[in-house]
Amino acid sequence: MSKDIALSLSEEHQRIQEMRTVLLDARDRYLAKGEERRWNLASRLLREFASHVDRHFSFEEEEGFLVHITQRRPLLSKRVASLRADHEALRNALLDLVALVDTKSEEELRRQLIGARLNAILSRLQAHEREENALMQEAFQQEFGTDD
Ligand SMILES: [Fe+2]
Ligand SMILES: [Fe+2]
Repeated sequence: MSKDIALSLSEEHQRIQEMRTVLLDARDRYLAKGEERRWNLASRLLREFASHVDRHFSFEEEEGFLVHITQRRPLLSKRVASLRADHEALRNALLDLVALVDTKSEEELRRQLIGARLNAILSRLQAHEREENALMQEAFQQEFGTDD
């Protein structure tokens, strides 16, 4: 793995964390006060977040980050496979949520969707990114962490 990829990855994870904070803030403001304009903002941020995460996953799959770890350390391949499965599940969960949010749903449904469902997705995504950071560190320790 090049250090550039590792650096991009950690910057990307930072960026996703920032977007997540902005999204949750808009979501909480909507849940606290209702209002169409707050809903519009929260749902727009959700769509942007979903497409950003989709591109992020593609970056990880296509730039070789996942493949590299498996090649360097075959013992980690199960954990890498589970990260790939997460991508699939999280992409689908986000797409489903965006599709539901885009339908003309009733107020109560909107609240449920953007409340509990979003929390579940974001928690899973956070656990996923933490695991990636951990795997990346392990790969780096082996590749760059020794003098010989
Ligand atoms: Fe990932
Ligand atoms: Fe990631």
